[in-house]
Amino acid sequence: MTTHHFPAPAKLNLFLHVIGQRNDGYHLLQSVFMLVDLQDQLSISLREDGAIHLNSGIAGVDTSTNLVMRAARLLEQFALERGLPIAGADLSLEKHIPMGGGLGGGSSDAATTLIALNHLWQLGLTQSELMQMGLRLGADVPFFLLGQNAFVEGIGEQLTPLNPEDAWFVVLHPGVAVPTPLIFGAPHLTRDTKSVKMSDFSSGLFSFGRNDLQAVAEKAFPEVAAALQWLGKFGDARMSGSGACVFARMSDQSAAQAVVSQVPAGSGWQAWHCQSLQSHPLAGLLEK
Ligand code: C5P
Repeated sequence: MTTHHFPAPAKLNLFLHVIGQRNDGYHLLQSVFMLVDLQDQLSISLREDGAIHLNSGIAGVDTSTNLVMRAARLLEQFALERGLPIAGADLSLEKHIPMGGGLGGGSSDAATTLIALNHLWQLGLTQSELMQMGLRLGADVPFFLLGQNAFVEGIGEQLTPLNPEDAWFVVLHPGVAVPTPLIFGAPHLTRDTKSVKMSDFSSGLFSFGRNDLQAVAEKAFPEVAAALQWLGKFGDARMSGSGACVFARMSDQSAAQAVVSQVPAGSGWQAWHCQSLQSHPLAGLLEK
């Protein structure tokens, strides 16, 4: 039986502004999302009996609620409604992107599942149909289905493609998982940052704006504050998403590697040097 392998890259939020809140509680954001080459891997073997099984690679996680399984079920439901036969699949996830890290790992896994199974099951969903389906799984999922770096607005569904220059980063995980709803739900989160236009950051994108979620996360998780302080010695350190990961842009690969090698022993921190991606590695499988 052939096993197919599909990457699921992480993202960094170069800045993340909270500019308002919808009546349903979701926050209106403005952010630049950048794909990086830290990636999970989804392996898929087609079955013959239509069943779907997931080996999530994560002990103690209920596979039925895993975003990969939920993505597969959405496609299965789509096929059933249209009377399209599906082969089923054995799905296996190899995690490298930390969970609760603000790097979009779960959302990227879900997006990769939608792209890969749409392709392997030959369902013929277009990119925009997959993006609508993906939004039901999480606000960050449509970004990964766009296939390129983007200015992201709304709750994550309004996407304007961008082509920022290539960059190297150090990404540091301070060893705590930050629950996204806790950060967005904090009473002291500022939700009124002034709306910006793309022309505001057309030069100096990498130092533009801030992450409005950062102050809340630093207060709730001193480990995040400590990681920011340490990484700040080497560059402009910021948090990605709702944390816990922090990152800083480096001049080149060797500078990034040098910082990773200096992470204090015994700190419990995990660090990576990674490079931006201009496009999603599976962009070629998206049907316009
Ligand atoms: O959509 P996702 O599952 O990634 O979001 C997790 C939680 O983060 C939501 O339940 C919500 O509390 C919060 N959130 C938000 N506004 C957004 C994105 C997420 O309030 N734009």
